[in-house]
Amino acid sequence: MFREVSKILAKSSMAIAFTGAGISAESGIPTFRGKDGLWRKYRAEELATPEAFKRDPKLVWEFYKWRIKKILEARPNPAHIALAEMEKMGIIKAVITQNVDDLHKEAGSINVIELHGNIFRIKCTSCSYREYLKETGRIEWLLSQELPKCPNCGSFLRPDVVWFGEALPEKELTTAFSLAKKADVVLVVGTSGVVYPAAYIPYIVKESGGIVVEVNIEPSSITPIADFFLRGKAGEILPRLVGEIRRYLNE
Ligand code: OAD
Ligand code: ZN
Repeated sequence: MFREVSKILAKSSMAIAFTGAGISAESGIPTFRGKDGLWRKYRAEELATPEAFKRDPKLVWEFYKWRIKKILEARPNPAHIALAEMEKMGIIKAVITQNVDDLHKEAGSINVIELHGNIFRIKCTSCSYREYLKETGRIEWLLSQELPKCPNCGSFLRPDVVWFGEALPEKELTTAFSLAKKADVVLVVGTSGVVYPAAYIPYIVKESGGIVVEVNIEPSSITPIADFFLRGKAGEILPRLVGEIRRYLNE
């Protein structure tokens, strides 16, 4: 199976990756629905909805500051690095991710499409102010605030992530869907595939005649349409694939 999948990837003309929380699990970042998943311990509707933020913005910020701190301790793992290598090899053309942790870019992936935002970005709840904390060097400032305010208009700032009930960023979604239509292979890694519209991506690839390769420690909602299911940890499977692809290309 590894040999076959590697050959398919090596011969593909437009492979893309579609990733979820599972790819960052081995970096120490909790997933949402798995064992120890965030939505098993906390109620999503109390922490990740616009209503929750209106009701108790301090609580929502507390949750996001805790997650920022956890993510700051995390490093990209061999799975993120393998995807970045496949991009350098010219095989993977884009990584479409549901993750907000920035680890794909930290690992060296260039063309990353963030469907659910980025936890290091903040935006104003009333004006158009936006800030990327890694660029402005204000992560520490943010972490010191109970309720961060907009430097432009004084309104509350919020994390620039997509909450339940909110629309996905339009440009990213359009780009992701059009890549999915054109892709001949999608590598689906570490997602339960239950959150839409993101979860349409593998279906669009499949319907347009592309091949669906899934990497997960257990079957997901995507598995029924997967042409290949590579069961195991992303941090072990993806580097193995890179090795096989290299071997194949050198043959
Ligand atoms: P989930 O927590 O729903 O799913 C994580 C998936 O990763 C599961 O299918 C696990 O089996 C798999 N997994 C866990 N560890 C793994 C490993 N080491 N290697 C490979 N696979 C592993 O996370 P997502 O599918 O990303 O949305 O969740 C989608 C969205 O739901 C998130 O983006 C977030 C959440 O609510 C928003 O915040 C809008
Ligand atoms: Zn403002």
